[in-house]
Amino acid sequence: MYNNDSRLQVNKGKLRLKNPVLSASGTFGYGKELESVANPDFYGAIALKGITVNSRAGNTPPRLVEVAGGIINAIGLQNDGVKDFVKNKVLPLKKYDTAIVANINGIKEDDYCVIAEQLEGTPIDYIEINVSCPNLEGGGVEFGKNARSIGSIVKKVKERTSIPLMLKLTPQVTDITEMVRAAEDNGIDIVTLINTYPAMAIDINTRKPVLGNVVGGFSGPGVKPMAIRLIWEVKKVTNLPIIGMGGICGWQDAIEFMLAGADAVAVGTWHFIDPSIAQKINQGILDYMNIHGFKSVSEIAGYTWRHHHESKKNRHNCCT
Ligand SMILES: Cc1cc2nc3c(=O)[nH]c(=O)nc-3n(C[C@H](O)[C@H](O)[C@H](O)COP(=O)(O)O)c2cc1C
Repeated sequence: MYNNDSRLQVNKGKLRLKNPVLSASGTFGYGKELESVANPDFYGAIALKGITVNSRAGNTPPRLVEVAGGIINAIGLQNDGVKDFVKNKVLPLKKYDTAIVANINGIKEDDYCVIAEQLEGTPIDYIEINVSCPNLEGGGVEFGKNARSIGSIVKKVKERTSIPLMLKLTPQVTDITEMVRAAEDNGIDIVTLINTYPAMAIDINTRKPVLGNVVGGFSGPGVKPMAIRLIWEVKKVTNLPIIGMGGICGWQDAIEFMLAGADAVAVGTWHFIDPSIAQKINQGILDYMNIHGFKSVSEIAGYTWRHHHESKKNRHNCCT
């Protein structure tokens, strides 16, 4: 009933999911907020709102604005800190039949280690190291733009936890493959991409920036083609499990991400339009598999990528 069809299972490296659909961090609260409209059991995993060492009040409102192709948010990582997270938010999640991902954030490199240590022994299944939040003064995305910082953070966190590690990548880089290599060399288990693009909107009547924080992160359907291209690039340099996101609004988008190389996908912004999207995507994937003769989601993952490169190789061979 809850998307448990064995053909949907993802089993690649450390990524073990009952189906390939996740909630993207920051768009699903801590699970229980959406319970009445979106049952977490429909997801392969739910990624929870990002946490920091200490509680944060977040940015001055307005924090969110709708624009063509999506939204710009500047929440500013409002959360109650890791101690409250462990004490009050994690245990109730045990009742769900889904994997739980804690999204961790830091202003200093050491912050990631402090949080990871406190998550040890909790029912958290994966830690997602977020080095791509554009709404954090200092740290955050500045780490994600620097391969050396990425390597150093992944290495340090790995030393402090036995929980499998995901790295959330930013699209704000010249060469994303450099970031993936640095993470893989230092022991990352899974990569997730993309986080939001820095963006801004101005109210033409007041002639002031719309967001209290002036700038925020752009997400939603408008970012999808750029996300697909980045998955394609990442696939070139790694065989690690990839979780793709950015503008997914339905099963067709999910399939496109998977064809490009994603082993699983996450839905973010579209939860605000359709909170029951996970079951629709999983059903759409099953229907697509039936029509096109795929026996498992792993056959879809990277299909276009593999076929494109094989045919390129064959073309090359026949001409030389
Ligand atoms: C309101 C909002 C809050 C977000 N908060 C977080 C967060 O706490 N941590 C994080 O890694 N990503 C956060 N994100 C980014 C999403 O997880 C996702 O990477 C991004 O929105 C792209 O996917 P989408 O186009 O489907 O929304 C947030 C996005 C939105 C819209």
